[in-house]
Order: sequence, then C-alpha cells, then structure tokens
Amino acid sequence: MIIAIDGPAGSGKSTIAKLIAEDLELVYLDTGAMYRLVTLKALNDGILGNLDKIIKMLDNLNIDIKENGFYLDDIDVSEEIRKPVVSENVSDIAAIREVREKMVDLQRKFSESKNVILDGRDIGTVVFPNADVKIFLVADAKERANRRYKELVAKGENVRIEEIYENILKRDEIDSTRKESPLKKADNAIEVDTTSKNIEEVKNEILNIINYLNT
Ligand code: CDP
Repeated sequence: MIIAIDGPAGSGKSTIAKLIAEDLELVYLDTGAMYRLVTLKALNDGILGNLDKIIKMLDNLNIDIKENGFYLDDIDVSEEIRKPVVSENVSDIAAIREVREKMVDLQRKFSESKNVILDGRDIGTVVFPNADVKIFLVADAKERANRRYKELVAKGENVRIEEIYENILKRDEIDSTRKESPLKKADNAIEVDTTSKNIEEVKNEILNIINYLNT
C-alpha cells in the first residue's frame, strides 16, 4: 500500500502523515526532510549557488533516515534541517533536476516491499503515480505561517511571523513554477482543506478517505 500526501509548505502534511502511519502501521517517509538534508550539506560545504559543485556533491552524499532522526555524514541533524536558513534555500536546491533524480530514486528504493505513507510535493504526480491513495493537503497561507511560527517558537527559535509568511509564499512560488516535477495536485488526488480544522479532524477525514478507497 502506498499513500501519497502532497501539498504546499506548512499545510500539515508531516503531522498528519505521522499520525496516519501510527494508526495504520505504515512506514512514514518525510521526503521534504531529504531535500533539507541536501540543502544543509550544500550550506555546510559553502557551495550554495554553484550548480556544478552541488551536482558533484551528490556522488558522495551520505544521508540516512532512521526512526529516531535524519542523519547527514552520520550526525543527527534533525533539528538543524528545520532552521530558517535551510527553509530559505531548500526550494532552490529542490529545483535542480539531478538532485530530484537522486532523491526520487532513494524514495522508491526505501518504499520497496513496504506499506508506506510519503509526504512531499511530487509523490502522487511523479514518485508514485500509481499510489493507492493520493491526498492534496491545502490551507490558507496565513494559517500555515501561524502554525509554523508556533512550531519554531516552541523549539526556542527566534523568528518573526512576517518572515515565515514570506518564506512560505516564496517556496510555494518556486515549488509550483519550477520545471522539474512542480508542486501540483495529481488529477486523481483528493483535496483536503485544513484551514479551520484541528489535527484530529483532518486525521479522521483522511482515514475515512483511505477506508472508502480501499473497500
Ligand atoms: O514541511 P514544509 O512544508 O516546510 O516543507 P518540507 O516538506 O520540509 O519541504 C521542504 C522543501 O523541499 C519544499 O519547499 C520543496 O522545495 C522541497 N520538496 C520537494 O521539492 N519535493 C518533495 N517531494 C518534498 C519537498
């Protein structure tokens, strides 16, 4: 079984995907975290903006997704990949064809012979066009910024809500207009608007859709 959850920045994909994975005993893969790992590596190596070096770096890329966290060169960087500096650069990195090819390859390998739920931008359109269930999660941009702001403040980050709002709009713009697998709703995806719903409501709505499509 493959469940694809796509949608714009901060629409609640990872929160919901984690809960559904627990409920249905699926393995969860946060594909956004993979693009964030590549971005962090490019930042650490000081090669942002240098396309040739970024493509070369992919040959020796050492990323690992374990149950307890996201690893870059064997170091747990789960916290670091959520920092604003990574969010500010990730959409440019994710627009690079070679980066996407490598990540999609890893995503397909990871999912082999497993029951999985993946969240991202291109899961239902490109990574798994034959997914059993495709959900497109959306929410009002101000609401998305508000949620992300609360998340970051709870982690002790010193951020301004205006900056987060701008970053969300900018990432949506880059992600949906890029040439390589742009963010868009798959033709047969079901759209769920989470704007004025709480987590429990969204989770139940999606569980109902999954049940309905599998009976
Ligand atoms: O959680 P949030 O909505 O902030 O984003 P994310 O899922 O962590 O993804 C970060 C960025 O990675 C996105 O803005 C996209 O540029 C990119 N991404 C992508 O291109 N394709 C995916 N399947 C997942 C993420």
